Amino acid sequence: MFSLQNKKAVVTGGGSGIGRAIATLFAKQGAEVHILDLTLESAKEAVEDIKKLGGTVFSYACNVASQKEVVATFESIGNIDILINNAGIANVGKVDTTSESDFDRVMEVNVKGVYNCLYAAIPQFRISSGGVIINMASIAAWVGIPDRFAYSTAKGAVMAMTLSVAKDYMNENIRCNSISPARVHTPFVDGFISKNYAGKEAEMFEKLSKSQPIGRMGKPEEIAALALYLCSDEAGFITGCDYPIDGGFIKLNN
Ligand SMILES: NC(=O)c1ccc[n+]([C@@H]2O[C@H](COP(=O)([O-])OP(=O)(O)OC[C@H]3O[C@@H](n4cnc5c(N)ncnc54)[C@H](O)[C@@H]3O)[C@@H](O)[C@H]2O)c1
Repeated sequence: MFSLQNKKAVVTGGGSGIGRAIATLFAKQGAEVHILDLTLESAKEAVEDIKKLGGTVFSYACNVASQKEVVATFESIGNIDILINNAGIANVGKVDTTSESDFDRVMEVNVKGVYNCLYAAIPQFRISSGGVIINMASIAAWVGIPDRFAYSTAKGAVMAMTLSVAKDYMNENIRCNSISPARVHTPFVDGFISKNYAGKEAEMFEKLSKSQPIGRMGKPEEIAALALYLCSDEAGFITGCDYPIDGGFIKLNN
């Protein structure tokens, strides 16, 4: 079960955190993995680790916000079977404390970046006669996380894009689902704690851990395991769904 032998998978933001865990697990399961990240340097450690495990992996410096770069990269990869739209950035702020430039930056990466990769991937899926897409959304799209206006807005768009694409390409044998994690312990979380809560890192880490009723943050490997299931042939009946993986955050927090 859950073999990805003979599958070609693209993982955006595969150099770090959740994307890196997905790239590693998919390579272990036999996929040929193509990591897109901002620089070759940011994908380097992930690539080395996967090669050590005997996996097949390639990396590309590609800013998902640039349609030109994204299209050229997908054309060079060629036919694909799996797309993991995972690259994303964080932003803290309420509507009146989010600057226009911060709003635009989050939309450029977290919304337009997903659109660009979908746009570039569809012709490559057609060559493979179908495929499967996972878009990385967030519990921020489900509930109003305090102080995350632009980020929540972007993740809401990711969930809507998932439905739109699932409908439009169902008859081309392309499945499209999204995953909505609560807090997962990755460099993304460590980065925004140190940037926004300097001097109170340990206290904030504890608070963020406790915001999941289960009492801890998720692990990147736990998200990767769900992504593997959803991309496997065993999940062939699943499309147009969002999967929260949240330690009880959405339904048990009261
Ligand atoms: N960590 C969490 O708590 C959490 C929770 C819910 C959803 N998510 C989502 O999961 C995804 C991955 O998060 P993570 O925590 O692993 O983040 P991370 O910061 O650890 O990794 C993100 C990767 O994306 C790359 N990246 C950023 N901008 C890019 C761009 N413009 N083009 C190409 N690559 C780019 C980064 O270089 C990095 O390698 C994001 O979409 C995030 O919103 C994360």
